Amino acid sequence: MKYDELLELIKYRRSIRRFKPDLVPDEYITKILDAAHYAMSGGNSQPWEFIVVKDPETKGKIFNIYREHDQMMVWYLEQQRIPRYRHPAFNLPDEEEYKHRDMIAAWKDAPVLICLLEDPRKQYGSTLCRGLEFGPNLDVLAATMGHVSMLIHLAAASLGLGSQRMEVMTQEPYRQILKYPEPLHLDTLVPVGYRAYEPGPPHRLPLKELVHYGQYDMKKYMRNEDFLKYIEKIRELGRPGYRVAIGEEKG
Ligand SMILES: Cc1cc2nc3c(=O)[nH]c(=O)nc-3n(C[C@H](O)[C@H](O)[C@H](O)COP(=O)(O)O)c2cc1C
Repeated sequence: MKYDELLELIKYRRSIRRFKPDLVPDEYITKILDAAHYAMSGGNSQPWEFIVVKDPETKGKIFNIYREHDQMMVWYLEQQRIPRYRHPAFNLPDEEEYKHRDMIAAWKDAPVLICLLEDPRKQYGSTLCRGLEFGPNLDVLAATMGHVSMLIHLAAASLGLGSQRMEVMTQEPYRQILKYPEPLHLDTLVPVGYRAYEPGPPHRLPLKELVHYGQYDMKKYMRNEDFLKYIEKIRELGRPGYRVAIGEEKG
């Protein structure tokens, strides 16, 4: 594969928040997981496992847990911020909160849900593991899980599919449905399906502001007093993606 094709794929991969209900061939899911399991990992520890959920009833239960335990908590936490600093998905007037809820609800239609699990014990395979008395190095574990996650999304994009990454903040309710034993953890939920909309190009900070040659260029250093401007900037960059996701703008 050439760089240009790779870059095109990387830019095509977006967090997709609405899906068509059309079924995805099982073979595609196997391809996605096959690609993902070649991810790099600390000490080649490969601490990941996957539960593929297609049954609508189980998906519905998982979705309800997400909505009840995770989504509402984040909504109310994010409302504590001054509006212009809020994450764009949460920066809606109170009377439009339903739009946020609808957007969150949209992943329910994805025909497949990949539940990405981590087994912290496997991180002991990493040379970066602290002594056993301190338990696994969770930073390395989280970094490793980020790598496998990225490959899932890229592989899905390469098959013309959309995917989304849902963070979870609780374990027990999911554990009861998905039956994964301790000490495994649910890392993230990844709905996968055909895209119900095209999100348009990704918006990122200019590369030249982030790269230094030879040594750190202090002209590019973000001073503490500029931090709020930075937050406003990334909110501005993120907003179009969410406006498209809730169907209020074209991608
Ligand atoms: C660690 C991490 C956590 C994220 N958590 C969520 C999440 O809980 N819900 C969600 O809708 N998107 C989540 N995202 C997706 C980001 O919002 C998204 O990647 C970012 O806005 C850039 O947009 P893009 O993925 O379309 O390029 C997460 C991404 C990462 C890397």
